Amino acid sequence: MRILITAGGTREYIDPVRFISNASSGKMGYALARAALKAGHQVTLITATTTQREPAGAKSIRVESTSEMFEAVKKYFSRCDCLIMAAAVADYTPVRSAKTKLKKGGNHLAIKLKPTPDILKWAGKQRKGKRKEEKGKRRIVVGFALEDKNLRVNAEKKLTDKNLDMIVANSPAAIAADKSDVQIKTPNSSWIKIENATKAAIAKKVVYLAEKLYQAKLK
Ligand code: CTP
Repeated sequence: MRILITAGGTREYIDPVRFISNASSGKMGYALARAALKAGHQVTLITATTTQREPAGAKSIRVESTSEMFEAVKKYFSRCDCLIMAAAVADYTPVRSAKTKLKKGGNHLAIKLKPTPDILKWAGKQRKGKRKEEKGKRRIVVGFALEDKNLRVNAEKKLTDKNLDMIVANSPAAIAADKSDVQIKTPNSSWIKIENATKAAIAKKVVYLAEKLYQAKLK
């Protein structure tokens, strides 16, 4: 498969030197890229800033903001067979980003935020191939869900609302950790629970399940 993977936490700039972001390390996305390469897939990695080393053999595209990540996903989505959105995408961005560094004042400072586009939801809507030769071919779209309560209910809602083939649900404890617990669901399967596993092991399983879904769709 040609697999498109997003990784890391996006940054939304308030001024040239300050941004809003999250604690994502990029470890899961990079583990997915390595697992996909190891399984023989062609990998394009759209990565927000991380300290992870670029996996050899992948085409890496560096982005910072959600809007840059969205542009890159739009560019590469039509050329992929499977998208895995492991990135921790900022849900909000400042309405205005100052051109010069903000000066401090004595008063409280309020920053007005506006919602960002939901990249995964866009992909879920778009995934039917548009080109003639792709007619009927469907891409596999895999999302992550970060939930601190009602994990299965909330993650299943994302699976349905974003029109996904697979959801990988985890909790905030997974952020930046080397090992984590995840629960995986596809529309027709029951929940698969993976406990205290390395991100490499989780990535291997996710890639394997994506391969199975892809094979089933090609039939
Ligand atoms: N996602 C996305 N674009 C956004 C926000 C999230 O593509 N603007 C993707 C993430 O990459 C992930 C999935 O949507 O694969 C779910 O992200 P998550 O943060 O768990 O949920 P949200 O959809 O942002 O909803 P909420 O924060 O309200 O739980």
